Amino acid sequence: MIVLGIETSCDETGVAVVEDGRIRSSLIGQQIELHARYGGVVPELASRAHLRTLNPAIGQALDHAGVSARELDAIAVTVGPGFIGSLLVGVSAAKALALVFGIPLIGVNHLEGHVEAAFLDRPGLEPPLVGLIVSGGHTMIVWLPEHGRFEILGATIDDAAGEAFDKIARFVGLGYPGGPEIDRLARDGNPAAHRFPRALMAEPSYDFSLSGLKTAVIRWVRERRARGEEFDLPDFAASFQEAIVEVQVAKTLRAAEEKGASSVVVAGGVAANSRLRALMLEEGGRRGLDVVIPPVELCTDNGAMIAAAGIRRLARGERTPLDAGPDPNLALA
Ligand code: KG4
Ligand code: ZN
Repeated sequence: MIVLGIETSCDETGVAVVEDGRIRSSLIGQQIELHARYGGVVPELASRAHLRTLNPAIGQALDHAGVSARELDAIAVTVGPGFIGSLLVGVSAAKALALVFGIPLIGVNHLEGHVEAAFLDRPGLEPPLVGLIVSGGHTMIVWLPEHGRFEILGATIDDAAGEAFDKIARFVGLGYPGGPEIDRLARDGNPAAHRFPRALMAEPSYDFSLSGLKTAVIRWVRERRARGEEFDLPDFAASFQEAIVEVQVAKTLRAAEEKGASSVVVAGGVAANSRLRALMLEEGGRRGLDVVIPPVELCTDNGAMIAAAGIRRLARGERTPLDAGPDPNLALA
């Protein structure tokens, strides 16, 4: 089956052609420059940019794949969660294509797409498994007993991990998005230089809380600035990053143990973080778990994960009615 996947839930215009488990083309149009000076995604600007770039990107994705639109078996599109204006651009384009070519429309949950990236990366990987989904808008641990069934074991009660990375990076004057900047700086820093709080670490729940860490880190920086004290930015970045990553790894592996899962998947934009990847692989490996973390380009928002999730839904006989709309708060489970 050949499916075109469209992802426009946030600020990346992702379009891909996937044939069964193989990515034939995948284009990602970034809008970083557009939002950088605001220090975060401006929804109205994002949707206008999607509007400009989506149609040419669809043509290019088909060209790169060497596939004509008539050969497509379906159009898969992210229907939520995300910014409503951004979602609408992708969903409208997908509906038009489905209608014109007389092929099924498959609506995909963005978070399900992130998890699907792991199946694209590792053919043969099967549920049951535990997944950590960490992005700019979400931080949760899920249990996937079988394909298509998600149970949320825990989630952030305040900020998402990516949001925390971006806010702290901005506070100390780093570029946008902040996650990759902190990751890069942290490589030269000592993660044990400063001890920042690990919220809910010892709690039995699988929930996360990141606002306390954010407040503590901001206070720490302000105190030093008030005293006119310099601090080493790489040490700071590494210590802050460690406080986030340690809790995520500990809780995810504990969930895997409790569920008796032998595989763990890490998905979403923050899964691009080099320290999270290294610690999860190291600690998971120590426990004999199969830890799957897709390559960075499959972790951040992309159309291939949406196409792949669409193929799975299509194979189950699912179809999305052409009069269905996007849902900015679409739930996973
Ligand atoms: O999944 P994603 O591309 O978009 C959303 O669905 O939110 O995730 C974007 C988030 C941003 O907050 C970004 O700072 C973060 O992922 N991110 C990272 C890294 N690369 C991207 N965070 C930490 N370390 C990274 N290397
Ligand atoms: Zn995402």
